[in-house]
Amino acid sequence: MQIVKTIEELRPIIKGWRKEGLSVGLVPTMGYLHEGHKSLIVKAVSENDKVVVSDFVNPTQFGANEDLSSYPRDIDRDATLCEAAGASLIFHPEPEEMYAPDNCTFVDMNKLTKGLCGKTRPSHFSGVCTVVSKLFHIVTPDLAYFGEKDAQQLAVIRRMVRDMNFDIKIVGCPIVREEDGLAMSSRNTYLNQEERQAALILHKSLTLGENMIKAGERDAIKVKNAIIKNIQTEPLAQIDYVEVVDAETLEPVESIENSILVATAVYIGKTRLIDNFSKDLEGNGR
Ligand code: PAF
Repeated sequence: MQIVKTIEELRPIIKGWRKEGLSVGLVPTMGYLHEGHKSLIVKAVSENDKVVVSDFVNPTQFGANEDLSSYPRDIDRDATLCEAAGASLIFHPEPEEMYAPDNCTFVDMNKLTKGLCGKTRPSHFSGVCTVVSKLFHIVTPDLAYFGEKDAQQLAVIRRMVRDMNFDIKIVGCPIVREEDGLAMSSRNTYLNQEERQAALILHKSLTLGENMIKAGERDAIKVKNAIIKNIQTEPLAQIDYVEVVDAETLEPVESIENSILVATAVYIGKTRLIDNFSKDLEGNGR
C-alpha cells in the first residue's frame, strides 16, 4: 500500500488504474482512523478494484475556536489500519498541497447547511463541500463512502453531487458503535474516564426516542422533548441541539412520517459529540 502526498504523484497512478479498466473507490477521512472508518474501507474494498483513503485534517471546515490544532493525528497507525482493511493507497497531503496561499474558491450550499450542526458551525459545510469536491476532482472515484454518523454531512454531499453533476455514487455506511453504544469518533479520544461514561447519554436518549416511534408515537415534538429531558439527566452533558427533521431536506418536521432523521449534538465537558438515528416509515431505501 502506497502513501502519496502530492496531487502530481497521485494523478498518474489513478490514470494507470483507469487504463487497466479498474474501478476506484474513495474513502475520505481526516485520519486517526477507528473501526467506523475501517468498516467504510472494508466495504469500499469489496465493491471496487482499487481503494483510495484520503487522510487529511481539512483546515477549512474548522471554525476559529475549534479543535484544528489539537485534532488527533497518527499517520503510521492509520497506515496499519488501511493496509489491514485492504486499501490500495493513502492520499495524505499537507494543507499547502490542497490550498494555495491565495485560494479563494469555495463550494457552498444555501439549504441543508443552516440547521443542525450548521447553526453552531456556520462555515463548516462550506469547508466540507470544498474539500470533498477537490478530492472528487483529484481522485475521480466511481464510488465514495461516508459514515451515517455525520448524517447532515452525508445529506449535504448527496445534494452537492446531484446539484453539481458529479458522476460519483455516494454510499452511506451504518454507524459503528462501541460495545456500550457510544458511536465511534476520533473525538472520543478527548474524553476522560468520567466523560466517556457520561457520553453514553447520547445513544441512550436517542434509543428512548426510537422506542417511542417504534411504539407508534408520531408527534415529533414529544419525541424531541423526551430525548432532551433524558439528556438533561446527565450533569456533564450540555445540549447543542436535538432535532427531528426530514431525512432529505433536513427541515424540521412536526409529524413523524416518511423518512426522518433524529439527530443530536451534545457537549460532554468541552467535547462536542454527535449521534443520530433515522427511520424510514415507508420503507423506501435511499
Ligand atoms: O467526515 C470527515 O471526516 C470529513 O468531514 C471529510 C468528509 C473527510 C471531509 O474533510
